[in-house]
Amino acid sequence: MAQWTSAVGATQLARLLRSQDPRDAEPPGGGRRLPAYRSLADGVRRLVLEGRVPVAARLPAERELAAAHAVSRTTVAAAYEALRAEGFLESRRGSGSWTAVPAGNPLPTRGLEPLPPEAAGSMIDLGCAALPAPEPWLTRAVQGAMADLPLYAHTHGDYPAGLPVLRQALADRYTARGIPTMPEQIMVTTGAMGAVAAICRLCTSPGERVAVDSPSYANILQLMRDAGARLVPVALAERLTGWDIPAWRQVMRDAAPRMAYVVADFHNPTGSLATEDQRRRLVDAARSAGTLLVVDETMAELRLDEDPEPPRPVCAFDPAGSSVITVGSASKAFWAGMRIGWVRAAPDIIRSLVAARAYSDLGSPVLEQLAIASLLGTGGWEQAIEIRRREARENRDAIVGALQRRLPDWEFTVPHGGLTLWVRTGGLSGSRIAEAGERLGVRVPSGPRFGVDGAFEGFVRLPFTVAGAVADEAVARLAGAARLVATGTPVEAELRTPFVA
Ligand SMILES: Cc1ncc(COP(=O)(O)O)c(C=O)c1O
Repeated sequence: MAQWTSAVGATQLARLLRSQDPRDAEPPGGGRRLPAYRSLADGVRRLVLEGRVPVAARLPAERELAAAHAVSRTTVAAAYEALRAEGFLESRRGSGSWTAVPAGNPLPTRGLEPLPPEAAGSMIDLGCAALPAPEPWLTRAVQGAMADLPLYAHTHGDYPAGLPVLRQALADRYTARGIPTMPEQIMVTTGAMGAVAAICRLCTSPGERVAVDSPSYANILQLMRDAGARLVPVALAERLTGWDIPAWRQVMRDAAPRMAYVVADFHNPTGSLATEDQRRRLVDAARSAGTLLVVDETMAELRLDEDPEPPRPVCAFDPAGSSVITVGSASKAFWAGMRIGWVRAAPDIIRSLVAARAYSDLGSPVLEQLAIASLLGTGGWEQAIEIRRREARENRDAIVGALQRRLPDWEFTVPHGGLTLWVRTGGLSGSRIAEAGERLGVRVPSGPRFGVDGAFEGFVRLPFTVAGAVADEAVARLAGAARLVATGTPVEAELRTPFVA
């Protein structure tokens, strides 16, 4: 990493260091207390690996941290020196010091390719946070689409902005949620991925900074990297209690990102939900910095608990859609196989996105658009979502119960919605657990896939996609993987057990 892209202040770093669990600071196997510089270096290292201090964040000057953390300047200097020697800090005269992760084995940062369902065999695939279609609504939606298709058969079938009937239905849905929306503010896309890809192509150039939640959805991070963006991670607030608005303000002011990408509704991977106040302040911060705020609502419909009250959508604080571009999708609410997503933004942004579409995928399939329009028009959408929610809730409770029984030292916050649980793996490497799990017949994505530059080594993400005995078996295999990692047993020696669902 050549330079820093964000900064952590002395008071903020001292607060983060104090908030760490004191048990993590104990020397391995008990024994004598660690020297002060070593505890400080270990504390910073853990903050980086857990993504609470982003990689490439400029650390405060030694003198400032010494004052804020109430230690001597020599202690800070020795801690910085140790971090530098271990590859967790880089420095350049005149530019200060910034966090890093050691070079070496490249950590997995790309998304995890889903196993084709028919190839899963004995493997329990927890790589993909998506559920089967909520029948009978898929069949009914396609039947509705077939009935409407003859109306379109005589046209050329190219609708780069989306079918008028679907744009209207999606606009009406925003209006019903309290944000008046015209069809001219909607473009239908090939899933949320297609939406974010189109926005990136239009609104950023290679080399430009894009601020992202840290952690964030792995495939979008990779999409942005591939588009040449320089990702600037902004850590979620402590204990996943939401968005750290002062940190966002600081990044938007200091790094001046062209764009920011936020999943405010049942965030993937943590399941966090931004409060209305956080939403308002995020939009204010973006507006004052001139940063385009891209808000991904893919998970928004998957509210699994009555509490808390659902906050208003982020675009409620910029209804015209000139600062906030909203991305939505039918993939989680209904079925990923539809590949239908959308963008809500100001009409001129939509016009530019539509014009640029001539050079990418030209449009989305008419039949699938008709299917979603038919669901929205007949009330089937709401009923399908109810099925989804029930299933996701049961799966969530099953995986949480199995973890509590079999891996009691793994920590997580049970989210009120979404499809994912973000799990701290009891001090073990999530990447090693994922490797061992693969050999024991359970596939999980490790934490670093959801981070920028190697953060979150101590996490895995578990989706709400399996229930009952399958969830229990999946966690039993993870517990087996954790044992192998903890004891340093070579994973090849272990045989994969056949799985019968
Ligand atoms: C936050 C988020 N955005 C986008 C996607 C991908 O959505 P789509 O299937 O609509 O492309 C996902 C899928 O898990 C997601 O969680």
